[in-house]
Amino acid sequence: MPDNRWTQSDLAAGYDAGAALIHPYYHELQDLLLRPVPIAADDEAVLVDLGGGTGRLMERLLDAFPKARGVVVDISAPALELATARLTRFGPRARCACSRLQDPWESQLDSAPAAIVSMSAIHHLDPAEKQDLYSRCFRALRPGGALLNADEVRAGDGATYLAHCKNWAARMCRLIDSGQVTPGMAEALCKWEARNVTHWQAPRRSGDDCHETIDVQLGYYSAAGFARVDCPWKKEMWAVMRGMKA
Ligand SMILES: C[S@@+](CC[C@H](N)C(=O)[O-])C[C@H]1O[C@@H](n2cnc3c(N)ncnc32)[C@H](O)[C@@H]1O
Repeated sequence: MPDNRWTQSDLAAGYDAGAALIHPYYHELQDLLLRPVPIAADDEAVLVDLGGGTGRLMERLLDAFPKARGVVVDISAPALELATARLTRFGPRARCACSRLQDPWESQLDSAPAAIVSMSAIHHLDPAEKQDLYSRCFRALRPGGALLNADEVRAGDGATYLAHCKNWAARMCRLIDSGQVTPGMAEALCKWEARNVTHWQAPRRSGDDCHETIDVQLGYYSAAGFARVDCPWKKEMWAVMRGMKA
């Protein structure tokens, strides 16, 4: 597995502990991802969480859909160790797959998923990688399936984008100053500010925060084949982007 800052164990544990403080809409976005999952309560569907980290969203999905099976895909073995522990009560209904999103994780699925969800992860892929991922999601989904991505996005104009990044960085600084995040997480948050505020105009590489606008990403969805695409929710630098497979 290639090295990536998310593969450090202190970062996985730090995000697991602090996510709902760091991300201003953490629970709200999880709620928004749960609602449009296109399955009935008794559907034995497969659900996939891309960049699902420590399994917090998958836990909620498997509670909400008691017959569904879930696969958490993530590059970070330490995050997946925490996910495995969190999801152990679901027995064989829950599985973790250690894979980059850029690699063919879909070949590890035993049936076509009804929904592929993701939160705060796909923005780490560069534009070409996102387009490839969305195409592979489209091909992998069963008919009627949904791709639901709640992620960080870029505003259309630079000044608004920078203001959004500054606001979030200020929240991160308050958390660090009040000792509410682990030292490993505090270091990661300072690096986030350096990348997205101090050097916000520097070119982004895969693995950075490759923020793109909602319109650009919905264009990628359409190009991938999704028949209905929309953005049901947007606030500051976060959005839910949805694509339905006919
Ligand atoms: C901000 S965390 C979000 C975790 C989880 N989705 C949540 O909301 O709690 C980003 C996650 O994306 C994963 N990730 C980042 N780049 C990835 C990649 N290229 N392939 C797979 N996972 C990746 C990280 O390991 C990390 O678990």
